[in-house]
Order: sequence, then C-alpha cells, then structure tokens
Amino acid sequence: MKANVIFTPENLDELSFSGKTTVVIDVLRATTTIINALNNGAKEIIPVASVEFAVKVSGGMFGGLTLLGGERNTKKIEGFAMGNSPQEYTPENVNGKSIILYTTNGTKALVKAKFSKNLFAASFSNLSAVAEHLSSLNQDIEILCAGRNHSFSLEDSICAGKMITEIIKFKEGLELTDTAKACIILSKSFGRNLLKMLMETEHGKLLIENGFEDDIKFCSKINNINSIPAFNGNVIKLLVKE
Ligand code: MLT
Repeated sequence: MKANVIFTPENLDELSFSGKTTVVIDVLRATTTIINALNNGAKEIIPVASVEFAVKVSGGMFGGLTLLGGERNTKKIEGFAMGNSPQEYTPENVNGKSIILYTTNGTKALVKAKFSKNLFAASFSNLSAVAEHLSSLNQDIEILCAGRNHSFSLEDSICAGKMITEIIKFKEGLELTDTAKACIILSKSFGRNLLKMLMETEHGKLLIENGFEDDIKFCSKINNINSIPAFNGNVIKLLVKE
C-alpha cells in the first residue's frame, strides 16, 4: 500500500484518476464546508467546476429542495443562497437539501478526480475517520490537495501529512512517495498549532481580510466530525459503511 500527495490538480488529466482511491483536501474551506453540510443533514452535495454550470444544474432541479452555494474570491456569489462558510451550513439551512456547490479550487479538484474508483473529501475535521477508512480499504492512496491559485497551499499539505501519519498507525509498512514524506515533515513543524498556522497562511490572511476569521477557527478543529463524504461520480453523500 502506497500514499502519494498531489499538491495541485493543475495540469492533471482527469483520466489519470481512473481506478484510483483519492482523497480531496481543501481545508480553507470547501471540504470543511462539505463535511459540515452533510453532517448537518444535507441530502447531497453536487460539486461543479463553474458558476455557469451551477446555475444550469439548479435550473433542472426542484426549487425548494435545492440550494446554490459557493464563493468567488471568498465571497458569496450573487443570486446564490449561501457562500462557502462552513458555519452557514446549519441543520436549519441544509437538512434534506441538495446543494450545488461551486468554489474556486475545492470543487474543481473534486470534479477533476471524479473518475476515481473511490473518492472522499477530507479536512482536519474528519481526518481520523478518513484515515481509518483508507487503511481498511488497503489500496494505494492519492491525496489531492486543492491548493490555491493553481499552486501549493500549506494548509492542505499539512492536513495530508497528518492524515498519512494517522494511516501509518494502522499500516506500519505504508510506502511513501517524496511528496508524502515532505507533507509529514511539514505537519510536524507547522502543524503543531493549527489555528495559528491557518491564520498565517496566504489564504488564511485573505479570509481574515474579508471578515471570515471565525471560519478559520472552525476549520482548525480536528476530528470533531466522524463522517466521510464520498463522491459517486455525480453527487457527494455520506459514506454508509457496510
Ligand atoms: C476554494 O475552493 O478555493 C476555497 O474553498 C475558497 C474559500 O472559500 O475560502
């Protein structure tokens, strides 16, 4: 069993994920939002790679039971019901709803990896639950960081490093690629105080500038949710374990 980390989905062909077991991480904030929304009773999340497609999909769905959510440059998109603050996705707002979600990096990464055999969404909030499940699958793992501005993001890489460290607890002989080893080192150095680390990242600073400091606090919580969002090629739902 081998673990690899991909720092950004940029320049990857979607077919390269065929047959793979993939985990997408976008700590700030898309995957944290998805985990929280599903944990609070959302029926499903439909990740999309463009605002235009989000609007098109919503046109073909039942009004009251479908919500459009997401962000552009961290802010709610005009005409959408919700932005990308995980805390907006409360039981009152999302219970029983299908949510079409567009975000700058996170949902694009999920769509890019849609041909994976197994595809999960992770962040600090469900790290141990995902690590344990991946260990039980016993398959090679691709951890796809959503990254930022087509490039590396520290917070996603640290989350990947922590996840691999957890998996090693179950799978001692886990083979690691160079990127996987680098993420473990990063998580040991910068990952000791998650809130401080997140506040000091490039994206963290932008979120603070735009008034989303509370979201950073929310995204810094670790293992507060035991659920695993799983993508079946069309929609993301909570994984029901056999
Ligand atoms: C993204 O997908 O780029 C992020 O989730 C952006 C954000 O809303 O913070």
